[in-house]
Amino acid sequence: MTAHRNKTEDDITAEVLERFAGTPDPRLRQIMLGLVKHLHAFVKEVELTEAEWFQAIEALTEAGRMCSDKRQEFILFSDTLGVSMVVDLINHRKPDGATESTVFGPFHRLGAPELPAGGNIAPRDKTGTPTLVSGRVLDLDGKPIMDALLDVWQTQSSGLYDSQDEDLGGELHMRGRFRTDAEGRYLIRTVLPVNYPIPSDGPVGRMLRAAGRHPWRPAHIHFVVSADGYEPVTTHIFDRRDEYLGSDAVFAVKDSLICDFEQHGSASGDAVRLGLAPPYYTATFDFRLKPAAEQGATVLDAQRRLAALGQRAAE
Ligand SMILES: [Fe+2]
Repeated sequence: MTAHRNKTEDDITAEVLERFAGTPDPRLRQIMLGLVKHLHAFVKEVELTEAEWFQAIEALTEAGRMCSDKRQEFILFSDTLGVSMVVDLINHRKPDGATESTVFGPFHRLGAPELPAGGNIAPRDKTGTPTLVSGRVLDLDGKPIMDALLDVWQTQSSGLYDSQDEDLGGELHMRGRFRTDAEGRYLIRTVLPVNYPIPSDGPVGRMLRAAGRHPWRPAHIHFVVSADGYEPVTTHIFDRRDEYLGSDAVFAVKDSLICDFEQHGSASGDAVRLGLAPPYYTATFDFRLKPAAEQGATVLDAQRRLAALGQRAAE
């Protein structure tokens, strides 16, 4: 057949789809055909101008240049466009009693120290209000899981992650890994989480400003909770009192992850033992893990690959 070269915009779409139709891997074929179909439809629907096309290339180039072991602008794009949460929701459709997941976000770093129960992830934060977060890691029957690993990260009370704070010179802060005891218990010493704006000095920030959107996230603490034989969960706990719970810049709030941070005027229990001076806060949250599904790569593997990608970019 002679290739016809007087192409219309629809001829091109058909030809590109045909070119990908022979992709040997069936899943990759499905993804590429879907991508081309929707991407072409999008460009046609908005009748993208050449100037706008070039602007998009510039924004993506800038996003790529900003990525390092400390910054992931593409995850910010995915988060602020709601794509991360759509992926999360289609991958965790059935309510099954396990702790709900939410976005991983761009601020996880490898190498957080393993700390004992009650270990302080905020030793250099002098302005935050001391806070104890405790609870248990349980299976779906409510049985404790011993030796579960909680990878925890949070902003300082300044609203900055360690990687955003130039005074720390690249040092890790507000991060720790904790193991549960025989009763499945964990105990984390930190400071009260605060709400904070996502980084707005790059193309994502420009997009939010142009759209009249605010960049704020409600106060939260990040967790990846994992244990042998169970499916790991990537999630946050949120402070119930936060004014941004209804308008999180990355759409990550789920009701089951909202938690009460309670203020105490006098010390008792763990606070006395750990030497916390009142006023301080406590929050309690139990994580429930479901048994590991028979599958190859886990979410955790993907997260490690992502972190390694950031490290490579920084070298
Ligand atoms: Fe965060």
